Amino acid sequence: MKKIQISPSILSADFSQLGEDIKRLEKSGADMIHVDVMDGHFVPNLTIGPPVIKSLRKYTSLPFDVHLMIDPVHKYIKDYSDAGADIITFHPEATKNTQETINLINSLSKKVGISLNPDTEINIAEEYLDKIDLILIMSVYPGFGGQKFINRVIKKIVELDKIRSQRKLNFKIEIDGGINFETSKIAIDAGVDILVSGTTVFKENNGDLKKNIKILKQI
Ligand code: DX5
Ligand code: ZN
Repeated sequence: MKKIQISPSILSADFSQLGEDIKRLEKSGADMIHVDVMDGHFVPNLTIGPPVIKSLRKYTSLPFDVHLMIDPVHKYIKDYSDAGADIITFHPEATKNTQETINLINSLSKKVGISLNPDTEINIAEEYLDKIDLILIMSVYPGFGGQKFINRVIKKIVELDKIRSQRKLNFKIEIDGGINFETSKIAIDAGVDILVSGTTVFKENNGDLKKNIKILKQI
């Protein structure tokens, strides 16, 4: 069985002690740290920006998986790179030129991700699949943690997994939103490699991070 990676979203962490929560995630078996950046415009919520990410960098050596829900996104890429992002994921709707934004992230030697909202079809990303490191499938409408998993996005994962093997490509498939102990299995069966989880990791089993990560990874 392939190895599933977990990218816990710090959106569900305690914002008064983010550094400590990140250290606990590392000790509990997280593979990377999912950082949700929201601008109150592309999505109806506001979170953190580069200075906070920079200050968190020293708490872990795990990769920072930075999910940018900001529009326009292109002009801020370098700031997130400088702040310590390792993977930079953007939504194609938020840039004038997807290829240029991919090139910029590559030129900064960071991994590139493209994110698809529940209503965004695969074809918007299809021509870039050989140029990116991951595709982030949103299984909720971005903006908030704790929402219900949208089942219909599963068919996009099946389709992407098929394209990946047919075209012998290497991008990872990551899923974000409403992942719990049941939906994680559905997503993994469909072809997902990386699970993002906020609520389940931080709140299930009285916040036992290690246990929750273990169950999600199916180990
Ligand atoms: C939603 C964010 C998600 C969210 C996931 O806009 O992109 O990363 O925090 O949270 P849960 O796991 O609670 O759905
Ligand atoms: Zn996210």
